[in-house]
Amino acid sequence: MTPEQITLVQTSWAKVAPVADQAANIFYDRLFEIAPEARPLFAEDMTKQKRALMGMLATAVNGLNKLDTILPAVQALGVRHVDYGATDEHYEVVAAALLFTLRKGLGDGFTPEVEEAWTRAYTTLAGVMIEAAGRARAA
Ligand code: HEM
Repeated sequence: MTPEQITLVQTSWAKVAPVADQAANIFYDRLFEIAPEARPLFAEDMTKQKRALMGMLATAVNGLNKLDTILPAVQALGVRHVDYGATDEHYEVVAAALLFTLRKGLGDGFTPEVEEAWTRAYTTLAGVMIEAAGRARAA
């Protein structure tokens, strides 16, 4: 990611963070609409899950310019997701639900540049999680 893209992700996230609860609702509604088979992987009560996801996203977004410091946490998160039942394919659906949420939340602020920057950020994070998960499955 370029420094400009990192800044775009961080400034656009700052607009979503104050309405994190709403964003989390949009995200999971969309996720279970496009991937209903993923619903049973999650607890019935999603309150804690919504907080955890938004918290982790905040950590990741703020850590983009010092990736090496968050890498171990992201790898560990990827390994835990093996037990949660997350597959490599699920990461693509999550990407779609995340971009949908950002489009809704940012409106006109969701420019092609912002979309590209978020796609890069997500691909980076998910790539680390998927790789760590693959190594854990093989071990
Ligand atoms: C970049 C992508 C993702 C991030 C940042 C993320 C973040 C998180 C976080 C922070 C938790 C809380 C538990 C923990 O820290 O171990 C969690 C749990 C979970 N995630 Fe993810 N996740 C991602 C992708 C996915 C994908 C692709 C799936 C597949 C459907 C998934 C399914 C789950 C499930 C089932 C749980 C556990 C729910 C429970 O314990 O009831 N996640 N995720």
